[in-house]
Amino acid sequence: MRQQIAAANWKMNLTLAEGQQLLQDILSKSPELSSHQQVVFAVPFPYLAMAQEAIQGKAGVAIAAQNCYSKKSGAYTGEVSVPMLQSLGIGYVVLGHSERREYFQESNQFLAEKINISLEYGLKPIFCCGEPLAIREANNQNAFVGQQLQESLYHLSATQLQQIVIAYEPIWAIGTGKTATSEQAQEMHAFIRSQLSAQYGEAVAANITILYGGSVKGANASELFSQPDVDGGLVGGASLIVEDFLAIIKALK
Ligand code: 13P
Repeated sequence: MRQQIAAANWKMNLTLAEGQQLLQDILSKSPELSSHQQVVFAVPFPYLAMAQEAIQGKAGVAIAAQNCYSKKSGAYTGEVSVPMLQSLGIGYVVLGHSERREYFQESNQFLAEKINISLEYGLKPIFCCGEPLAIREANNQNAFVGQQLQESLYHLSATQLQQIVIAYEPIWAIGTGKTATSEQAQEMHAFIRSQLSAQYGEAVAANITILYGGSVKGANASELFSQPDVDGGLVGGASLIVEDFLAIIKALK
């Protein structure tokens, strides 16, 4: 079975002490994970070292950065490089979140550069894609997401692609309480997998983990994750609530 992942995206929330407490509460109550299940915490940069330390010895748990820069080092004041993340032992990096695309003008091409350097240093990108409301209302979501995949991923070899986790996050469902129905999620996930299959072959596509993100809660996770092409979730608001995130972990296939 391909990897099933419950990924917490804390975004720009919590103090250090609050983050430490949240991690401790979740880790102490988290169920035993099967070998195909993983829990990932995408925490703010200043908490990465703390979080990496907190998960030591916890099988199936990893830490992600929420972003990185596209260059290895140099005069880029305020940016964080992939070699820095690697030196902390960080396993994943979230790239292309819609908030970064919208507020920081990150393009598909720029994201391709960030993906390349992440892979070069052995970090797994959690590549986010997803359409805004107007595109969904015009029923153009497949073309929109298809282009995001094409411009950021299709230069990769099949071996490289297999290091990528994809997160489908329809923008209209993020932080709005308006979840995509499990049918809408399944439909898009199946479309993404079919595109990957056309590009890289069925065997490669069948192994790619595709997460759903957008108002995932403890109460709707099982229904979403029960869909055949939904391999877990990338969770914002509910990942800050211990009982909610625990329920999401328990809902993994
Ligand atoms: P919410 O779960 O708060 O809707 O956020 C989703 C998200 O953006 C995760 O990256």
